[in-house]
Amino acid sequence: MTHILEFKVKDQSLAEQGSLLIEWAATHMPVLAQIRHRFEKEKPLKGATLGACLHVTKETAVLVQALKAGGAKIALCGSNPLSTQDEVAAALANIGINIYAWRGETREEYYWCVNKVIDHKPVITLDDGADLVGTLHSKRTDILKAVKGGTEETTTGVVRLRAMEKAKALKYPIVAVNDAYTKHLFDNRYGTGQSTIDGILRATNVLLAGKNFVVCGYGWGGRGLASRARGMGAHVVVTEVNPVRALEAVMDGFQVTSLTEAARIGDIFVTVTGDTSVIRKEHMTRMKDGAIMANSGHFNVEINIPDLDSLAASKRTLRSNLEEYKLRTGKKIYLLAEGRLVNLASAEGHPSEVMDMSFANQALCVEYLVKTKKLEPKVYDVPKEIDNKVAKLKLKSMGIKIDTLTSEQEKYIASWEEGTV
Ligand SMILES: NC(=O)c1ccc[n+]([C@@H]2O[C@H](COP(=O)([O-])OP(=O)(O)OC[C@H]3O[C@@H](n4cnc5c(N)ncnc54)[C@H](O)[C@@H]3O)[C@@H](O)[C@H]2O)c1
Repeated sequence: MTHILEFKVKDQSLAEQGSLLIEWAATHMPVLAQIRHRFEKEKPLKGATLGACLHVTKETAVLVQALKAGGAKIALCGSNPLSTQDEVAAALANIGINIYAWRGETREEYYWCVNKVIDHKPVITLDDGADLVGTLHSKRTDILKAVKGGTEETTTGVVRLRAMEKAKALKYPIVAVNDAYTKHLFDNRYGTGQSTIDGILRATNVLLAGKNFVVCGYGWGGRGLASRARGMGAHVVVTEVNPVRALEAVMDGFQVTSLTEAARIGDIFVTVTGDTSVIRKEHMTRMKDGAIMANSGHFNVEINIPDLDSLAASKRTLRSNLEEYKLRTGKKIYLLAEGRLVNLASAEGHPSEVMDMSFANQALCVEYLVKTKKLEPKVYDVPKEIDNKVAKLKLKSMGIKIDTLTSEQEKYIASWEEGTV
């Protein structure tokens, strides 16, 4: 491990390889490229120190470069112990980013990295899962006063932050980037859908066609995953706790049942709920010999791993991100990527094209926070103008034209007098 004052990464000699990966991602991120271009000229973030806790991927590096072009100083750590791409981390260290991240951090190391970012005294925080905000509010309240605002990338983070707001514990404003349409409609759905399948295949290389593929949770991530698994020829079974979402899954053509029932028939199980202990002992004992479990929700608590350990007589790693648990009954169950986000731990996370929109929202929301004078310590929606702007830029980059309302249509839509003709 290299340890120089301003950064800590696994192996700095990987920097050149990392730069090539970042270059490849940037090729597919035209919206962020336009923002970067403007930032380079206008320097809207000049002098601002940003503290970021994000998955250290090639796409995050493209965001970091845009923010740097805007004049910001950036300290970055990973938002999951297994999601850092070490080549990318090395490349970022090389361009002067205060980065503290490597793949395979222990829990202690993970929070050491978070604290190193806080040591830089950020005025704006960028979080993915709210660990940075959580640490600032619990263990580093010394730094809290100077923080002007923050952004949050994912559903689980937004849920945690809204709970903080409700308990009046939140001390500075946060923009919920996750809730922008141009984020969750594409990132959570198509990004999670594709990259979760990618992670499962890289870890196992099993055939999906003909398999019973159980998706726990039919939210944005679950919808995307279910449709992609169906596209690969799997028979998809959905489990839910929300009756409306369950009904939606039924009408989308999926089999819906309780996890107790699904446990008996599933070949592959994927949790994507943001909840805890979704797959527990009672489900694991019902599973078929050879069943595979993975998680694509934010934290590694959706599959109850202590339950799995308690049932196991032995455990061994068969290949990267694939662990075999031999239960005392003789049955074997497989766990991917230690139950952590399988798309990031076992693959490369979302494709660059969707991160283009998520991170365009991040960049524009950081600019909004830097420029906005006073906001209450609450969770805010992404301003509508930013969301629409990202959609427009994305369409433009894809060469797609859409219609505009005529003045007659504008008037018609805004009026209440018009009715049956
Ligand atoms: N893997 C990734 O890269 C990635 C990307 C985006 C979001 N996420 C994470 O994925 C999780 C889900 O995000 P989302 O945007 O789909 O959230 P969402 O709120 O849209 O959907 C979650 C769904 O899970 C259901 N659910 C909750 N508990 C359940 C249980 N015990 N059994 C079955 N269903 C249950 C809810 O009713 C809801 O419909 C979050 O943790 C989020 O942070 C991961």
